[in-house]
Amino acid sequence: MFAVTAARIDAEDPLAGMELGERPDPAVADGWVTVTVKAASLNHHDVWTLRGVGISADRLPIVLGCDAAGLDPDGNEVIVHSVIGDPDAGGGDETLDPRRSLLSERHDGTFAERVAVPRRNLLPKPAALSFEEAACLPTAYLTAYRMLFEKSGAQPGATVLVQGASGGVATALILLGRAAGYRIWATSRSEAKREHAVALGADQAFAAGARLPERVDVVMETVGQATWAHSIRSLRPGGRVVICGATSGDAPPAELTRIFFTQLSVTGSTMGTRDQLGRLARFCEQTGVRPVIDRALPLASARDGFAAMMAGDLFGKVVFVC
Ligand SMILES: NC(=O)c1ccc[n+]([C@@H]2O[C@H](COP(=O)([O-])OP(=O)(O)OC[C@H]3O[C@@H](n4cnc5c(N)ncnc54)[C@H](OP(=O)(O)O)[C@@H]3O)[C@@H](O)[C@H]2O)c1
Repeated sequence: MFAVTAARIDAEDPLAGMELGERPDPAVADGWVTVTVKAASLNHHDVWTLRGVGISADRLPIVLGCDAAGLDPDGNEVIVHSVIGDPDAGGGDETLDPRRSLLSERHDGTFAERVAVPRRNLLPKPAALSFEEAACLPTAYLTAYRMLFEKSGAQPGATVLVQGASGGVATALILLGRAAGYRIWATSRSEAKREHAVALGADQAFAAGARLPERVDVVMETVGQATWAHSIRSLRPGGRVVICGATSGDAPPAELTRIFFTQLSVTGSTMGTRDQLGRLARFCEQTGVRPVIDRALPLASARDGFAAMMAGDLFGKVVFVC
């Protein structure tokens, strides 16, 4: 089958370690099934893998890709949950299983014509969502869903600041948050992207680091070093920052004094459960929210999608179509 593979790690030039071509069909373990991939979406995770972040060289070669929508062996339309873990080992939450992994970390991923997954990781795809839209849900949208509705503690009407408006997780936060009744403020490095964020439903958008009209209840962080100080300074006393990523690096000053003096909370968030993915799919059906797709490309053009993500030249998700 055709697949996009991480063959080597290259921290400086990630695309140098990526190979496109034939790979053996996935082996199917007991309790696992093969999904015929119709669409798969790109996440920053795939760039990290090629850079060697979160994976060691002895796991390579491995097929890239966390997210997919496709057909199960009976021809049913399905969404693939990317977290491979045992809920019982994580107190009912597979993301807390100490041995959990995402597709493409220990098992071959979704940038292929076929992918093998545990049967429990399949959810029905709502008919209202296209395969391309459904393929955006398992990582970026599920992460945004958990950040907003489990971790933030904020009630509808609260003001939520989304740092770095254009990314996959950030656009999901804007869309889902707006649909749930939060007042969404966003920042971006680019004026065009700020305009895009407002068109998407953000109440206001600001230049990165700008002083805000008032302090906010919650900040959603995916950027890390470049925005951390601004995030901490933008919170009202008692506010909370929810962080799921650090794209620009993870070594900012921690702002410890401000955190304790204004009694802030810093909450980490990673992916979500299978049940949350099911509720997210229903949320999209009920509200009419549809993932923002920057571009859909044939899987054979994966290099173009990776290059756009690494250049920050996108707004929303890149989807590969099989
Ligand atoms: N913990 C989890 O479960 C989880 C799940 C999904 C993602 N993540 C992490 O969250 C981060 C975002 O993922 P994604 O897939 O949404 O990535 P993406 O689509 O590539 O988005 C990158 C984002 O970074 C922003 N950014 C702002 N300043 C930046 C700077 N100085 N350098 C680099 N980027 C900057 C961009 O905002 P503007 O260009 O608009 O300013 C853009 O929103 C990644 O680090 C990823 O690994 C974690």
